[in-house]
Amino acid sequence: MLRAGSRQGSRLRRDAGRSAALGHDEQMEFSTIIEPFRVHSVEPLRMTTPQQRRVALAEAGHNLFSLRADDVLIDLLTDSGTGAMSRDQWAAIQRGDESYAGSPSWFRFLESVQDLFPFEHVIPTHQGRAAEKILFTAIGGPGRIVPNNTHFDTTRANVEYTGATAVDLVIAEGRDPSSLHPFKGNMDLEALDALLRRHGSEVIPVVFVTITNNSGGGQPVSLENLRGVRELCDRYGVPLFLDACRFAENAWFIREREPGQGDREVRDIVREMASLADGMTMSAKKDPLGNIGGWLAMRDDALAEECRTLLVLTEGFPTYGGLAGRDLDALAQGLREAVQHDYLRYRIRSTAYLGEALAGGGMPVVQPIGGHAVYLDAGRLLPHIDPLAFPGQALAVALYEAGGVRGCEIGSAMFGLQPDGTERPAAMELVRLAIPRRTYTQSHIDYVIEVALSVAARADELTGYRITSPPRPLRHFTATFEPLD
Ligand SMILES: Cc1ncc(COP(=O)(O)O)c(C=O)c1O
Repeated sequence: MLRAGSRQGSRLRRDAGRSAALGHDEQMEFSTIIEPFRVHSVEPLRMTTPQQRRVALAEAGHNLFSLRADDVLIDLLTDSGTGAMSRDQWAAIQRGDESYAGSPSWFRFLESVQDLFPFEHVIPTHQGRAAEKILFTAIGGPGRIVPNNTHFDTTRANVEYTGATAVDLVIAEGRDPSSLHPFKGNMDLEALDALLRRHGSEVIPVVFVTITNNSGGGQPVSLENLRGVRELCDRYGVPLFLDACRFAENAWFIREREPGQGDREVRDIVREMASLADGMTMSAKKDPLGNIGGWLAMRDDALAEECRTLLVLTEGFPTYGGLAGRDLDALAQGLREAVQHDYLRYRIRSTAYLGEALAGGGMPVVQPIGGHAVYLDAGRLLPHIDPLAFPGQALAVALYEAGGVRGCEIGSAMFGLQPDGTERPAAMELVRLAIPRRTYTQSHIDYVIEVALSVAARADELTGYRITSPPRPLRHFTATFEPLD
């Protein structure tokens, strides 16, 4: 492990300039930022050889979603539901009450959610896309348009499934992987204004803002931008919803980067973000530190009634939704841990450590480094591979083959297929290395750095891919690929 020692300074020392901007509670005697936990139980990893991984790849049709997880050494496919729960969350699971209706677990969950997001109606679901499905079934439909800074893939799919159109309106900097704008997740307010003016509230049932902007590089949205979106929503009479999966990381970035926010408690920033919105969808598998869970929340009574009716059809009774009582209790505790400053400081800094080491070693990455993931810019690394030959897929497969590291293509394999069956290159060709929360140590990450830089050093040998399976929505989960010669 301690080959990592040479890098320790670069990761774990906070920037000299930054510490002055930190609030009084941030002043610590030493500048090394450590993991604010110690290991309590361990999960073995299975070592594999490149030859074994080539066989696994062939069996999986070169789709990393089709691998057996046991064949993956460091799994950075997603930060969704893959985090380590704390001792207190496991203890909370023991308190779980499985009463069908009105369980005490439900009330503990509700209290925790409303402490941060004080919406009148909270509707528990088994994960984020279930909340999306219910909401867009209620408010979507043919002819409708839903703007977002950038729709996540399931959000887009749920909008489009109803016949509505999903429109991405992130600022121009958010589409430029090298721009250093501090809030690259921001909504383009002029473009949103124009869309709202043109179509009005008859056609646009909701404006969504995704915090942080996952598909756009895990980039945050500023409070100032959210206030601007709120103003436009008020002007045109359209509700504003947050896709708030990574609300705590977004709030930490606001605290670190937005003028005047540096001394605030993260929980207060979260409450302010919530106060600007009329509702939210949540995948509790991200910042709330759950392995499963989600919710839909809103102020509107009539909409809540309609959503609860749909909830009963597909998820369950409104006091458990798609969750067991024990899951509700784990989330109630996870939400309290998610906004702790020591945790967020470590979380954001350790992601930046990976990104900085990769960028320093010659791997192009989306800048600035996002909260939950480092996004490799496969388009820039592999200019010789046409976007419709999926450079992101080529890079993701190469990382697995070289070192058993599993990332996720976020490019034309994920977004290229249009509703009319045509192919269009995605805005960016990325590979996301998502960091599960509280799961991997620094030496795991140093290994990832070594693997990724070895692939970058032979980038010109990588070839593109073609898809060999029939087109279908969300094809990246199931498609099979074949390398091009
Ligand atoms: C921004 C965003 N929205 C929605 C979702 C969907 O959540 P889930 O995977 O819990 O269905 C995700 C999942 O990664 C996401 O990142």
